[in-house]
Amino acid sequence: MILPESLFLKAVKARKNAYAPYSKFKVGAAILSAKGNVYVGANVENVSYPCGICAETAAIAAMVAGGENLIQEIVIVADSKEIISPCGACLQRISEFSNQKTTIHLADLSGIKKSYTLGQMLPFNFDEESLRQ
Ligand code: THU
Repeated sequence: MILPESLFLKAVKARKNAYAPYSKFKVGAAILSAKGNVYVGANVENVSYPCGICAETAAIAAMVAGGENLIQEIVIVADSKEIISPCGACLQRISEFSNQKTTIHLADLSGIKKSYTLGQMLPFNFDEESLRQ
């Protein structure tokens, strides 16, 4: 079993490898999958700014490449005064791989500060139901 605190430490470690020369804002993410594995990501910026990807997106890509598609918990960490929230696009990406129990932990460098379900953070997600005609 992996505790949120050790998932937090993995996110902090991944954050150190963030490639953020333009914003100088490093973000780390660590996913605990439904099967109990950990997948990490960091933001990867690009000189063509819109090409950059968020830490959450990188961690989701690692999870999918690892053959999994359900997030149990995700920790997102940055060094900011106000704890950061995943951007809208990342919330939608998280929702693709979530269930009602999926928990999003928001952290600064000192630890997890707030925890929410995906439903709390994105109550009106676009899902398969929305595609029905
Ligand atoms: N960023 C993330 O990686 N995750 C978030 O939740 C918010 C923003 C990144 C994108 C960009 O590289 C930098 O932070 C500044 O926006």
